[in-house]
Amino acid sequence: MTSPTYATRRAQLETYFDRTAVEAWARLTSDAPVSRIRATVRAGRDAMRAELLSWLPADLSGRRLLDAGCGTGALAVAAARRGAEVVAVDVSPTLIGLARERTTAFGLPGRLDFRVGDMLDEGLGAFDHVVAMDSLIHYRTPDIVRALAALARRTETSLLFTVAPRTPLLTVMHTVGRLFPRGDRAPAIEPVGEDALRRRVAAEPGLAPFGIARSRRVTSGFYLSNAMELARR
Ligand SMILES: C[S@@+](CC[C@H](N)C(=O)[O-])C[C@H]1O[C@@H](n2cnc3c(N)ncnc32)[C@H](O)[C@@H]1O
Repeated sequence: MTSPTYATRRAQLETYFDRTAVEAWARLTSDAPVSRIRATVRAGRDAMRAELLSWLPADLSGRRLLDAGCGTGALAVAAARRGAEVVAVDVSPTLIGLARERTTAFGLPGRLDFRVGDMLDEGLGAFDHVVAMDSLIHYRTPDIVRALAALARRTETSLLFTVAPRTPLLTVMHTVGRLFPRGDRAPAIEPVGEDALRRRVAAEPGLAPFGIARSRRVTSGFYLSNAMELARR
């Protein structure tokens, strides 16, 4: 069962990614020109996607992979290109529509099934690998760990995810950001201290069969995110 804070945040993210920011997000995830600041974010996100993909087997034929919070589907496509049977889920129907539009022309060796919904929906089935790139960064640490435990129950091999590291600069940016009126602001990114996360992961019974196998920070201008791998022991 998900917590009230998880459900509230998911609803805010649905509004944000499905309406408020949908055009900006469509542009950021395309090849269209963007501002210098956004170009650093795009470059960082490309580097993060490449990093996460490098943590998966080169040949994904016959493996089931969940792209949890897939957005416009770039990682899902890359995994399907490597032969995976991909289920890609997002709470934003508009982003899923865009992902479907962008990928209909591809002849992919693997399968690619885009779904609208919650990444924690058990009906999505079981997977060899789960990847949640920048889709848990808006949740509070206890909700992140509970979400990972729920996903781990359906994961055979590895669970890759990212968190926003707690750095002094990021903390200042978030504190300042909170002073602005709500308006169209993005739901806050929740900085996560790596030590606190490791302690919570170690204490979560649902994650007992898994251990943190890798962690890698990706920084590019205004993009800052920490990739982590939970691997079955
Ligand atoms: C920052 S975007 C990243 C999208 C994609 N992973 C990428 O890297 O391009 C976060 C995405 O997670 C989705 N999301 C957030 N919470 C979710 C949930 N509980 N279930 C499914 N999708 C979720 C949002 O709708 C949004 O599209």
